[in-house]
Amino acid sequence: MKKRIAVLPGDGIGQEVMEEAVRVLKAVADCFDHKFEFTEGLIGGAAIDAVGNPLPPETLDICKESDAILLGAVGGPKWSDVPSDIRPEKGLLGLRKEMGLFANLRPVTAYRQLVNASPLKREVIENVDLMIVRELTGGIYFGKSERRGENQDIAVDTLQYDVKEIERIVEKAFQLARVRRKKLTSVDKANVLESSRMWREIVDQISVKYPDVEVEHMLVDSTAMKLIHHPETFDVVVTENMFGDILSDEASMIAGSLGMLPSASLRSDSAGLYEPVHGSAPDIAGENKANPLAMILSAAMMLKYSFHLEKEAHAVESAVTEVLNQGYCTPDVGISGKCIGTKEMIDKVMDKLNENHAISGILSA
Ligand code: NAD
Ligand code: IPM
Ligand code: MN
Repeated sequence: MKKRIAVLPGDGIGQEVMEEAVRVLKAVADCFDHKFEFTEGLIGGAAIDAVGNPLPPETLDICKESDAILLGAVGGPKWSDVPSDIRPEKGLLGLRKEMGLFANLRPVTAYRQLVNASPLKREVIENVDLMIVRELTGGIYFGKSERRGENQDIAVDTLQYDVKEIERIVEKAFQLARVRRKKLTSVDKANVLESSRMWREIVDQISVKYPDVEVEHMLVDSTAMKLIHHPETFDVVVTENMFGDILSDEASMIAGSLGMLPSASLRSDSAGLYEPVHGSAPDIAGENKANPLAMILSAAMMLKYSFHLEKEAHAVESAVTEVLNQGYCTPDVGISGKCIGTKEMIDKVMDKLNENHAISGILSA
Protein backbone atom coordinates (compact mmCIF):
# COMPACT_ATOMS: atom_id res chain seq x y z
CA MET A 1 0.00 0.00 0.00
CA LYS A 2 1.26 3.47 -0.88
CA LYS A 3 0.37 6.39 1.39
CA ARG A 4 1.39 10.02 1.67
CA ILE A 5 1.88 11.28 5.20
CA ALA A 6 2.20 14.96 6.15
CA VAL A 7 4.71 15.34 8.97
CA LEU A 8 4.37 18.47 11.14
CA PRO A 9 6.84 18.25 14.05
CA GLY A 10 6.06 21.71 15.49
CA ASP A 11 7.92 22.82 18.61
CA GLY A 12 9.75 21.57 21.68
CA ILE A 13 9.38 17.84 22.28
CA GLY A 14 7.06 17.73 19.26
CA GLN A 15 10.20 17.63 17.11
CA GLU A 16 11.81 14.92 19.21
CA VAL A 17 8.84 12.55 19.32
CA MET A 18 8.07 13.08 15.63
CA GLU A 19 11.54 11.93 14.62
CA GLU A 20 10.87 8.70 16.50
CA ALA A 21 7.41 8.22 14.98
CA VAL A 22 8.82 8.48 11.47
CA ARG A 23 11.49 5.93 12.40
CA VAL A 24 8.83 3.49 13.61
CA LEU A 25 6.64 4.01 10.54
CA LYS A 26 9.59 3.39 8.22
CA ALA A 27 10.17 0.10 10.04
CA VAL A 28 6.46 -0.79 9.67
CA ALA A 29 6.66 -0.02 5.94
CA ASP A 30 9.73 -2.29 5.61
CA CYS A 31 8.21 -5.15 7.60
CA PHE A 32 4.83 -5.13 5.88
CA ASP A 33 5.88 -4.08 2.39
CA HIS A 34 4.18 -0.67 2.23
CA LYS A 35 5.42 2.60 0.83
CA PHE A 36 4.96 5.60 3.09
CA GLU A 37 5.98 8.96 1.63
CA PHE A 38 6.72 11.61 4.25
CA THR A 39 6.44 15.34 3.49
CA GLU A 40 7.48 17.71 6.22
CA GLY A 41 5.70 21.02 6.89
CA LEU A 42 6.13 23.94 9.26
CA ILE A 43 3.58 24.69 11.96
CA GLY A 44 3.38 26.63 15.23
CA GLY A 45 6.35 28.52 16.63
CA ALA A 46 8.77 26.97 14.12
CA ALA A 47 6.60 28.39 11.31
CA ILE A 48 6.35 31.80 12.99
CA ASP A 49 10.15 31.93 13.19
CA ALA A 50 10.60 30.86 9.57
CA VAL A 51 7.82 32.71 7.76
CA GLY A 52 5.87 34.75 10.35
CA ASN A 53 2.73 32.60 10.12
CA PRO A 54 1.85 29.64 12.44
CA LEU A 55 -0.02 27.91 9.60
CA PRO A 56 1.66 28.75 6.26
CA PRO A 57 -0.44 28.04 3.14
CA GLU A 58 2.27 25.58 1.96
CA THR A 59 1.64 23.50 5.09
CA LEU A 60 -2.07 23.44 4.48
CA ASP A 61 -1.42 22.34 0.89
CA ILE A 62 0.83 19.50 2.06
CA CYS A 63 -1.91 18.37 4.47
CA LYS A 64 -4.64 18.51 1.85
CA GLU A 65 -2.53 16.48 -0.58
CA SER A 66 -1.74 13.80 2.01
CA ASP A 67 -3.66 10.71 3.10
CA ALA A 68 -3.09 11.54 6.78
CA ILE A 69 -1.31 14.07 8.98
CA LEU A 70 1.02 13.48 11.91
CA LEU A 71 1.58 16.37 14.31
CA GLY A 72 4.01 16.66 17.23
CA ALA A 73 3.08 19.66 19.37
CA VAL A 74 3.10 23.44 19.11
CA GLY A 75 3.84 26.35 21.43
CA GLY A 76 6.29 27.42 24.07
CA PRO A 77 7.40 30.44 26.12
CA LYS A 78 9.38 31.88 23.18
CA TRP A 79 6.10 32.86 21.52
CA SER A 80 4.05 33.86 24.57
CA ASP A 81 4.12 37.55 23.66
CA VAL A 82 3.36 37.38 19.94
CA PRO A 83 0.01 38.91 18.84
CA SER A 84 -2.88 36.56 19.65
CA ASP A 85 -3.81 35.96 16.02
CA ILE A 86 -0.41 34.52 15.17
CA ARG A 87 0.22 32.46 18.31
CA PRO A 88 1.58 28.93 17.64
CA GLU A 89 -1.67 27.43 18.97
CA LYS A 90 -3.62 29.35 16.30
CA GLY A 91 -1.77 27.26 13.71
CA LEU A 92 -3.05 24.02 15.19
CA LEU A 93 -6.59 25.34 15.69
CA GLY A 94 -6.63 26.68 12.12
CA LEU A 95 -5.45 23.34 10.76
CA ARG A 96 -8.17 21.40 12.63
CA LYS A 97 -10.83 23.85 11.40
CA GLU A 98 -9.59 24.05 7.80
CA MET A 99 -9.44 20.28 7.52
CA GLY A 100 -12.88 19.85 9.14
CA LEU A 101 -11.52 17.50 11.81
CA PHE A 102 -14.44 17.69 14.22
CA ALA A 103 -14.04 14.40 16.10
CA ASN A 104 -11.10 14.03 18.47
CA LEU A 105 -10.74 10.51 19.86
CA ARG A 106 -8.63 10.29 23.00
CA PRO A 107 -8.37 6.74 24.33
CA VAL A 108 -7.20 6.28 27.92
CA THR A 109 -5.71 2.93 28.83
CA ALA A 110 -4.27 1.99 32.19
CA TYR A 111 -1.25 -0.10 31.24
CA ARG A 112 -0.75 -2.78 33.89
CA GLN A 113 3.03 -2.13 33.79
CA LEU A 114 2.56 1.54 34.66
CA VAL A 115 0.10 1.35 37.57
CA ASN A 116 2.78 2.61 39.94
CA ALA A 117 3.32 5.68 37.76
CA SER A 118 -0.21 6.85 38.47
CA PRO A 119 -0.91 8.88 41.60
CA LEU A 120 -4.16 6.88 41.85
CA LYS A 121 -4.45 3.57 43.68
CA ARG A 122 -3.95 0.36 41.74
CA GLU A 123 -7.50 -0.87 42.46
CA VAL A 124 -8.96 2.40 41.12
CA ILE A 125 -7.22 2.30 37.75
CA GLU A 126 -6.96 -1.41 36.96
CA ASN A 127 -9.36 -2.28 34.17
CA VAL A 128 -9.80 1.28 32.93
CA ASP A 129 -10.39 1.46 29.20
CA LEU A 130 -12.25 4.60 28.18
CA MET A 131 -12.36 6.93 25.24
CA ILE A 132 -12.99 10.64 25.39
CA VAL A 133 -14.67 11.88 22.21
CA ARG A 134 -14.03 15.61 22.14
CA GLU A 135 -15.79 17.99 19.75
CA LEU A 136 -12.85 19.76 18.09
CA THR A 137 -13.92 22.51 15.71
CA GLY A 138 -16.61 24.43 17.59
CA GLY A 139 -17.50 25.85 20.98
CA ILE A 140 -15.66 28.56 22.85
CA TYR A 141 -12.41 27.92 20.91
CA PHE A 142 -13.98 29.24 17.73
CA GLY A 143 -16.69 31.68 18.88
CA LYS A 144 -16.48 35.46 18.65
CA SER A 145 -13.61 36.66 20.79
CA GLU A 146 -12.58 40.24 21.49
CA ARG A 147 -11.24 42.87 23.87
CA ARG A 148 -13.34 46.01 24.12
CA GLY A 149 -14.26 48.89 26.37
CA GLU A 150 -12.66 52.29 26.68
CA ASN A 151 -9.59 50.81 28.30
CA GLN A 152 -9.89 47.43 26.62
CA ASP A 153 -11.03 46.27 30.04
CA ILE A 154 -13.71 43.88 28.82
CA ALA A 155 -12.75 40.51 27.35
CA VAL A 156 -15.28 38.34 25.54
CA ASP A 157 -15.15 34.70 24.44
CA THR A 158 -18.30 33.15 23.04
CA LEU A 159 -19.41 29.54 23.35
CA GLN A 160 -21.59 28.75 20.37
CA TYR A 161 -22.78 25.49 18.78
CA ASP A 162 -25.31 24.78 16.08
CA VAL A 163 -27.41 21.62 15.93
CA LYS A 164 -25.44 20.04 13.07
CA GLU A 165 -22.12 20.41 14.85
CA ILE A 166 -23.52 18.60 17.88
CA GLU A 167 -25.34 15.93 15.89
CA ARG A 168 -22.24 14.80 13.99
CA ILE A 169 -20.04 14.41 17.07
CA VAL A 170 -22.78 12.68 19.05
CA GLU A 171 -23.43 10.26 16.15
CA LYS A 172 -19.70 9.48 16.02
CA ALA A 173 -19.67 8.78 19.76
CA PHE A 174 -22.68 6.45 19.57
CA GLN A 175 -21.03 4.54 16.71
CA LEU A 176 -17.87 4.12 18.77
CA ALA A 177 -19.83 3.06 21.87
CA ARG A 178 -21.69 0.46 19.82
CA VAL A 179 -18.44 -1.34 18.93
CA ARG A 180 -17.01 -1.01 22.45
CA ARG A 181 -18.83 -1.72 25.74
CA LYS A 182 -22.03 0.03 24.65
CA LYS A 183 -22.09 2.78 27.22
CA LEU A 184 -22.09 6.50 26.43
CA THR A 185 -21.62 9.27 28.97
CA SER A 186 -22.52 12.68 27.60
CA VAL A 187 -20.85 15.42 29.60
CA ASP A 188 -22.18 18.97 29.79
CA LYS A 189 -23.03 21.86 32.09
CA ALA A 190 -26.78 21.82 31.42
CA ASN A 191 -27.55 23.30 34.84
CA VAL A 192 -25.99 26.56 33.63
CA LEU A 193 -25.37 26.70 29.87
CA GLU A 194 -27.97 26.95 27.09
CA SER A 195 -25.62 25.21 24.64
CA SER A 196 -25.45 22.28 27.05
CA ARG A 197 -29.23 22.06 27.28
CA MET A 198 -29.38 21.85 23.48
CA TRP A 199 -26.57 19.27 23.56
CA ARG A 200 -28.65 17.10 25.95
CA GLU A 201 -31.76 17.30 23.77
CA ILE A 202 -29.74 16.17 20.73
CA VAL A 203 -28.17 13.26 22.60
CA ASP A 204 -31.64 12.10 23.69
CA GLN A 205 -33.00 12.37 20.14
CA ILE A 206 -30.10 10.43 18.62
CA SER A 207 -30.17 7.79 21.37
CA VAL A 208 -33.46 6.46 19.93
CA LYS A 209 -31.43 5.09 16.97
CA TYR A 210 -29.06 3.27 19.33
CA PRO A 211 -31.29 1.29 21.75
CA ASP A 212 -28.38 -1.09 22.40
CA VAL A 213 -26.24 1.74 23.87
CA GLU A 214 -26.82 2.78 27.48
CA VAL A 215 -26.77 6.60 27.76
CA GLU A 216 -26.16 8.77 30.78
CA HIS A 217 -25.89 12.55 31.10
CA MET A 218 -23.35 13.88 33.57
CA LEU A 219 -22.38 17.40 34.59
CA VAL A 220 -18.76 18.24 33.85
CA ASP A 221 -17.83 19.08 37.43
CA SER A 222 -19.01 15.76 38.81
CA THR A 223 -17.47 13.98 35.81
CA ALA A 224 -14.10 15.45 36.82
CA MET A 225 -14.60 13.90 40.26
CA LYS A 226 -15.88 10.55 39.01
CA LEU A 227 -12.99 10.15 36.56
CA ILE A 228 -10.74 9.93 39.61
CA HIS A 229 -13.15 8.10 41.91
CA HIS A 230 -14.51 5.41 39.57
CA PRO A 231 -12.82 5.69 36.16
CA GLU A 232 -13.65 2.06 35.35
CA THR A 233 -17.34 2.96 35.04
CA PHE A 234 -16.73 4.98 31.84
CA ASP A 235 -16.66 3.60 28.31
CA VAL A 236 -17.19 6.39 25.74
CA VAL A 237 -17.36 9.96 27.03
CA VAL A 238 -18.63 12.58 24.57
CA THR A 239 -18.29 16.27 25.26
CA GLU A 240 -17.75 19.73 23.85
CA ASN A 241 -14.38 21.17 22.92
CA MET A 242 -13.08 22.79 26.11
CA PHE A 243 -14.54 20.25 28.55
CA GLY A 244 -12.87 17.51 26.49
CA ASP A 245 -9.54 19.30 26.54
CA ILE A 246 -9.55 19.60 30.31
CA LEU A 247 -10.96 16.16 31.13
CA SER A 248 -8.42 14.42 28.90
CA ASP A 249 -5.41 15.94 30.65
CA GLU A 250 -7.01 14.90 33.95
CA ALA A 251 -7.57 11.38 32.62
CA SER A 252 -3.91 11.13 31.60
CA MET A 253 -3.11 10.53 35.25
CA ILE A 254 -4.98 7.22 35.03
CA ALA A 255 -2.40 6.20 32.42
CA GLY A 256 0.39 7.65 34.55
CA SER A 257 1.56 10.42 32.21
CA LEU A 258 0.42 12.79 29.49
CA GLY A 259 3.18 11.12 27.51
CA MET A 260 1.01 7.99 27.21
CA LEU A 261 -2.11 9.53 25.62
CA PRO A 262 -2.50 9.40 21.82
CA SER A 263 -5.27 10.97 19.78
CA ALA A 264 -6.95 10.92 16.39
CA SER A 265 -8.77 13.91 14.93
CA LEU A 266 -11.20 12.73 12.30
CA ARG A 267 -13.91 13.86 9.91
CA SER A 268 -16.45 11.70 8.08
CA ASP A 269 -14.03 10.30 5.46
CA SER A 270 -10.78 8.50 6.22
CA ALA A 271 -8.64 11.67 6.42
CA GLY A 272 -7.25 12.35 9.85
CA LEU A 273 -4.72 14.18 11.96
CA TYR A 274 -2.88 12.18 14.58
CA GLU A 275 -1.22 13.87 17.51
CA PRO A 276 -0.36 13.17 21.11
CA VAL A 277 -2.60 14.84 23.71
CA HIS A 278 0.41 16.51 25.32
CA GLY A 279 2.03 19.82 24.39
CA SER A 280 5.57 20.91 23.59
CA ALA A 281 6.74 20.37 27.21
CA PRO A 282 9.24 23.27 27.32
CA ASP A 283 10.44 22.08 30.75
CA ILE A 284 12.04 18.95 29.28
CA ALA A 285 12.52 19.88 25.60
CA GLY A 286 15.89 19.07 24.04
CA GLU A 287 16.91 16.67 26.81
CA ASN A 288 15.98 13.30 25.26
CA LYS A 289 13.57 12.84 28.20
CA ALA A 290 10.20 13.02 26.45
CA ASN A 291 8.02 9.95 26.43
CA PRO A 292 7.57 9.16 22.72
CA LEU A 293 4.81 6.58 23.23
CA ALA A 294 1.84 8.98 22.94
CA MET A 295 3.20 9.97 19.52
CA ILE A 296 3.95 6.38 18.48
CA LEU A 297 0.50 5.23 19.59
CA SER A 298 -1.00 8.15 17.62
CA ALA A 299 0.85 6.83 14.56
CA ALA A 300 -0.71 3.42 15.29
CA MET A 301 -4.14 5.10 15.36
CA MET A 302 -3.32 6.55 11.92
CA LEU A 303 -2.54 3.07 10.57
CA LYS A 304 -5.87 1.86 11.92
CA TYR A 305 -8.30 4.73 11.30
CA SER A 306 -6.97 6.31 8.09
CA PHE A 307 -5.23 3.40 6.37
CA HIS A 308 -7.28 0.48 7.78
CA LEU A 309 -4.02 -1.38 8.45
CA GLU A 310 -5.22 -3.24 11.56
CA LYS A 311 -2.39 -5.78 11.60
CA GLU A 312 0.26 -3.09 11.33
CA ALA A 313 -1.37 -0.94 14.04
CA HIS A 314 -1.52 -4.00 16.29
CA ALA A 315 2.16 -4.73 15.63
CA VAL A 316 3.12 -1.25 16.88
CA GLU A 317 0.84 -1.48 19.93
CA SER A 318 2.15 -4.95 20.81
CA ALA A 319 5.76 -3.81 20.50
CA VAL A 320 5.01 -0.94 22.92
CA THR A 321 3.31 -3.28 25.40
CA GLU A 322 6.18 -5.76 25.24
CA VAL A 323 8.80 -3.07 25.85
CA LEU A 324 6.80 -1.90 28.88
CA ASN A 325 6.59 -5.55 29.98
CA GLN A 326 10.38 -5.65 29.97
CA GLY A 327 10.31 -2.79 32.49
CA TYR A 328 11.65 -0.06 30.20
CA CYS A 329 10.16 3.40 30.46
CA THR A 330 10.97 7.11 30.21
CA PRO A 331 11.49 9.32 33.31
CA ASP A 332 7.89 10.60 33.39
CA VAL A 333 6.61 7.15 34.30
CA GLY A 334 9.50 5.60 36.16
CA ILE A 335 12.64 6.04 38.14
CA SER A 336 13.81 2.44 37.97
CA GLY A 337 17.16 1.24 36.61
CA LYS A 338 15.38 0.63 33.32
CA CYS A 339 14.51 4.29 32.89
CA ILE A 340 15.77 5.27 29.45
CA GLY A 341 15.69 8.22 27.03
CA THR A 342 13.34 9.07 24.17
CA LYS A 343 15.57 7.58 21.46
CA GLU A 344 16.51 4.50 23.47
CA MET A 345 12.82 3.80 24.16
CA ILE A 346 12.13 3.74 20.43
CA ASP A 347 15.24 1.61 19.81
CA LYS A 348 13.59 -0.96 22.09
CA VAL A 349 10.24 -0.65 20.31
CA MET A 350 11.96 -1.11 16.93
CA ASP A 351 13.85 -4.17 18.19
CA LYS A 352 10.54 -5.73 19.28
CA LEU A 353 8.82 -4.82 16.04
CA ASN A 354 11.58 -6.41 13.96
CA GLU A 355 11.87 -9.43 16.26
CA ASN A 356 8.09 -10.12 16.15
CA HIS A 357 8.11 -9.71 12.39
CA ALA A 358 10.99 -12.15 11.99
CA ILE A 359 9.17 -14.69 14.20
CA SER A 360 5.91 -14.35 12.24
CA GLY A 361 7.93 -14.81 9.02
CA ILE A 362 9.42 -18.06 10.37
CA LEU A 363 6.00 -19.30 11.54
CA SER A 364 4.33 -18.63 8.21
CA ALA A 365 7.20 -20.14 6.17
P1 NAD B 1 2.51 20.15 28.19
O1 NAD B 1 1.57 19.07 27.81
O2 NAD B 1 3.48 20.58 27.17
O3 NAD B 1 3.30 19.71 29.51
C1 NAD B 1 2.66 19.49 30.75
C2 NAD B 1 3.58 18.64 31.64
O4 NAD B 1 3.59 17.30 31.17
C3 NAD B 1 5.02 19.11 31.65
O5 NAD B 1 5.56 18.93 32.93
C4 NAD B 1 5.70 18.19 30.66
O6 NAD B 1 7.07 17.98 30.90
C5 NAD B 1 4.90 16.90 30.83
N1 NAD B 1 4.84 16.16 29.57
C6 NAD B 1 4.06 16.44 28.51
N2 NAD B 1 4.30 15.57 27.53
C7 NAD B 1 5.25 14.73 27.95
C8 NAD B 1 5.92 13.63 27.37
N3 NAD B 1 5.65 13.18 26.14
N4 NAD B 1 6.85 12.99 28.11
C9 NAD B 1 7.13 13.40 29.35
N5 NAD B 1 6.53 14.43 29.96
C10 NAD B 1 5.59 15.10 29.26
O7 NAD B 1 1.60 21.38 28.66
P2 NAD B 1 2.02 22.89 29.03
O8 NAD B 1 3.35 22.90 29.66
O9 NAD B 1 0.86 23.43 29.72
O10 NAD B 1 2.11 23.61 27.61
C11 NAD B 1 3.34 23.89 26.93
C12 NAD B 1 3.01 24.40 25.54
O11 NAD B 1 2.42 23.37 24.76
C13 NAD B 1 2.00 25.56 25.53
O12 NAD B 1 2.44 26.49 24.58
C14 NAD B 1 0.70 24.92 25.09
O13 NAD B 1 -0.16 25.78 24.40
C15 NAD B 1 1.22 23.85 24.17
N6 NAD B 1 0.33 22.70 23.98
C16 NAD B 1 0.26 22.20 22.71
C17 NAD B 1 -0.50 21.08 22.46
C18 NAD B 1 -0.53 20.54 21.07
O14 NAD B 1 0.25 20.98 20.24
N7 NAD B 1 -1.39 19.59 20.76
C19 NAD B 1 -1.16 20.43 23.52
C20 NAD B 1 -1.07 20.98 24.79
C21 NAD B 1 -0.31 22.10 25.03
C1 IPM C 1 -4.73 20.06 22.92
C2 IPM C 1 -4.13 21.43 23.21
C3 IPM C 1 -4.73 22.46 22.28
C4 IPM C 1 -6.22 22.54 22.60
C5 IPM C 1 -4.08 23.84 22.32
C6 IPM C 1 -2.61 23.79 22.11
C7 IPM C 1 -4.70 24.75 21.31
O1 IPM C 1 -4.28 21.76 24.54
O2 IPM C 1 -4.64 19.61 21.79
O3 IPM C 1 -5.25 19.42 23.83
O4 IPM C 1 -6.61 23.18 23.58
O5 IPM C 1 -6.99 21.95 21.84
MN1 MN D 1 -5.00 20.10 25.76
